[in-house]
Amino acid sequence: MKIHQLWATPLVQNEIPHELCSRVLDELPKPSDDNDRGSLDFNVWQLPGQAIQDLRARLEETVKLIVPGDCAWDTRLGRGWINFQTAGESNSLHHHGETSIVMICYLQAGPGAADLILVDPRPPSIWTSRIENGKSGRSFLRVRPYTGLVVCFPGYIMHAVEPHVEPIPRISLATNFWVQHS
Ligand SMILES: [Fe+2]
Repeated sequence: MKIHQLWATPLVQNEIPHELCSRVLDELPKPSDDNDRGSLDFNVWQLPGQAIQDLRARLEETVKLIVPGDCAWDTRLGRGWINFQTAGESNSLHHHGETSIVMICYLQAGPGAADLILVDPRPPSIWTSRIENGKSGRSFLRVRPYTGLVVCFPGYIMHAVEPHVEPIPRISLATNFWVQHS
């Protein structure tokens, strides 16, 4: 008998220094009373600050480590945005369409920051289903964020953020990368 493990989904984790997270946070526009929740609606890579450019270089280095080096690939940085979540806020289940790689960088995530939930987009199979709190459902992975954590996964992966409960805002930067033959 043979068992073939087909189409494993990569999840890459990396870290950036806390010092870089702090410098990026200092450069971000502060949420106003009118826009104090959800995504701050601008392309973060268009901000001129040095810390933003330093972070961009770090994330692009990470992508180069992921993409196979034995053939000609181009990686193109897509839009980047900030998710700012205060107590009670969450992010509903979604995916990033045909984006090659989604990268999320946690700039501020205290010990009680809401988890990121990665969900298998395929219909549930009995051997991939998982039980939590007595309930079974689709296969998922819980990622506990912390300041400086970077996670990367394919754009087709469904993901959500559970309700954030702690008073310290949870601030992450998400960006898309496109990978194509050069
Ligand atoms: Fe997302």
